[in-house]
Amino acid sequence: MKIALLGFGTVGSGLPALIADNQEKLAALLDETISISKVLVRSEEKAAQLRQAGHPWDFVTSIEAILNDDTISIVVELMGRIEPAKTYISQALAAGKSVVTANKDLLALHGAELQKLAQKNKVALYYEAAVAGGIPILRTLANSFASDKVTRLLGIINGTSNFMLTKMMEEGWTYKKALETAQLLGYAESDPTNDVEGIDAVYKLALLSEFAFGMTISPSQIKHQGIPTIQQADVEIANQLGYVIKLVGEIVEVSSGIFAEVSPTFLPASHPLASVKGVMNAVYLDSIGMGASMFYGAGAGQNPTATSVLADIVRIVKRFKEQTLGKSFNEYKRATRLAESSE
Ligand code: NAP
Ligand code: HSE
Repeated sequence: MKIALLGFGTVGSGLPALIADNQEKLAALLDETISISKVLVRSEEKAAQLRQAGHPWDFVTSIEAILNDDTISIVVELMGRIEPAKTYISQALAAGKSVVTANKDLLALHGAELQKLAQKNKVALYYEAAVAGGIPILRTLANSFASDKVTRLLGIINGTSNFMLTKMMEEGWTYKKALETAQLLGYAESDPTNDVEGIDAVYKLALLSEFAFGMTISPSQIKHQGIPTIQQADVEIANQLGYVIKLVGEIVEVSSGIFAEVSPTFLPASHPLASVKGVMNAVYLDSIGMGASMFYGAGAGQNPTATSVLADIVRIVKRFKEQTLGKSFNEYKRATRLAESSE
């Protein structure tokens, strides 16, 4: 199964190593080898540098080289932002290629249109890594909560701001030092404005509202406030009173539908979300069937995010096999029993 990669940054450059590290397991699960063939980069200069550094893939600078390659079945978009990502994803779907992306900005703003295109062309568009990095929360909501009804969702869903607030509260770091370190560690977006202003969390909350409440909200309908206004005095007061400051996204069911908001919040130190520190994320749910539950894991960073991207690739390969194996599907299922039991 050949894959094309769009973007070779923090997450994109982590994916090939992850595929290589898991090659044996993936081959056993899927009876198929997953390999990256083409990688789209911005310029010939960058392509030459990467070739010189010994990377073996076919670096290309035009999307046509990927769209016109019939051997490529899956396109993985890891460039970020809206354009040209939206155009390239649309073209890939229209060309009959499935797409995996971690691009929450794009999905929150144009997800419905892209999903329609995927359905029309009978291909998959998966984006688990777009929300809460390595936590498989979208899949969990879609599958495990199908028989339940969520009434409230609270989430720490931006790793950069949670890392910054943790360092500011526990180690007295300045805002500037905390942000620079989050950037160095690959948690922040290339322009970190959306991370610190709560906009990245708004996009993720918009995606969560669909999976948790079955309701589409536009990011513009979600009130938000970020963390740049938090002062040392706020940190001191929170510490003295036994609270922690967290950037929390909340969706709650109200009589007219749902209400959603992202804001810095004083949480009592005893609240389950108060113990979510550093780059970790968590989604806390109140639901009729389960009562309270919390899903916790790394919210950003190369490896957790690439792991989530690779899991989506595996889902697509499995789906492809299920569709094409026809009568021998049971045989295929036996061969992949490990995959079945781990879901
Ligand atoms: P990144 O480090 O900025 O990497 C993006 C890469 O895409 C860069 O190498 C950039 O090249 C390339 N690119 C941008 N526009 C391009 C174009 N038109 N043609 C070819 N290449 C292009 O970003 P990242 O952190 O890997 O994030 C990638 C995506 O994953 C984003 O949607 C982000 O929101 C999402 N995500 C990231 C994380 C994380 O922890 N980093 C977690 C979850 C989701 P140049 O360097 O030449 O500009
Ligand atoms: N910049 C994002 C964050 C990456 O810090 O959470 C993960 O979506």
